[in-house]
Amino acid sequence: MSKNVIFYFTGTGNSLKVAKDVAHVLGDCNVVSMPLVYTTHDEYNLFADVERIGFIYPVYGGPPNFVKKFVSELTLPKGKNIYYFVVVTCGIFKWKSISIIKDTLIEKGINLNAGFSIKMIANAIGLYNIADNVEKILKKAQVKINFVSEKIKSKKNNMIFDFDPLIALHDKFAKSLPTMDTNYNVSENCMGCKICSQVCPVKNIEIIHNKPVFKHTCEQCMACIHLCPSKAINYGNKTQNKKRYINPDITIKEIINGNNNVQEY
Ligand SMILES: Cc1cc2nc3c(=O)[nH]c(=O)nc-3n(C[C@H](O)[C@H](O)[C@H](O)COP(=O)(O)O)c2cc1C
Ligand code: SF4
Ligand code: SF4
Repeated sequence: MSKNVIFYFTGTGNSLKVAKDVAHVLGDCNVVSMPLVYTTHDEYNLFADVERIGFIYPVYGGPPNFVKKFVSELTLPKGKNIYYFVVVTCGIFKWKSISIIKDTLIEKGINLNAGFSIKMIANAIGLYNIADNVEKILKKAQVKINFVSEKIKSKKNNMIFDFDPLIALHDKFAKSLPTMDTNYNVSENCMGCKICSQVCPVKNIEIIHNKPVFKHTCEQCMACIHLCPSKAINYGNKTQNKKRYINPDITIKEIINGNNNVQEY
């Protein structure tokens, strides 16, 4: 039981990096992968004595499908003394990724006190290349992470401004995500190490005859494509020669550990 609980969703570690940094600044904090709550059913124990509850996740045109489902289904404590916050990580723009979750919380009778966005590395390599200047972008992001962490520590409220003229397109995109793994292929470089199935936050990968098989409940988080040590997983013919990415402050081991255990700070 901690005074602070942060729920996160991550593919390539940006959102976990932010969750860890905020947790370090707050202290007395449980950092919990959202999918893990469905496995452990431990939500009630997490909230005794809680002061701050946060949700940290990437932008996929809006919030990831899993995050929308998670926040709408989770039983959350109410009360003026609990500070609720959201931090989204993105490549360029946050669209309505904060206000959609804000509205979900309002439907549950909960006020979102603050929402923040942090530009990190855009990881959708089916669409583009990973930036060349990762170090420079993340140095700038670190300044914002520190700023946001202090705001959360002092329980600052803020106004959430976001807009999305492409909302219909983004809704359609979100609906198409689960089965986009039909475009994935696995090359002969696969050595059957199972890392892809362990990093997948939503257990969408089964290893059959030493090779990953995708089960069409994909979030398109890109973890399997980026973190396969053999670069054996590809999106059609779009990713074969592209650089892979993991947030440099996060290890594959940490992502796997986070998928299975609550992390205490
Ligand atoms: C399917 C998908 C859609 C994305 N859409 C957006 C977007 O609309 N705007 C944006 O700025 N970044 C977008 N990104 C980039 C991610 O939000 C960004 O890389 C994020 O920091 C990844 O977080 P993670 O490392 O915790 O998984 C998208 C990435 C993926 C995989
Ligand atoms: S992570 Fe890569 S090498 Fe390991 S099982 Fe998955 S596809 Fe094969
Ligand atoms: S199958 Fe790959 S892209 Fe889809 S959710 Fe799992 S790790 Fe993410």
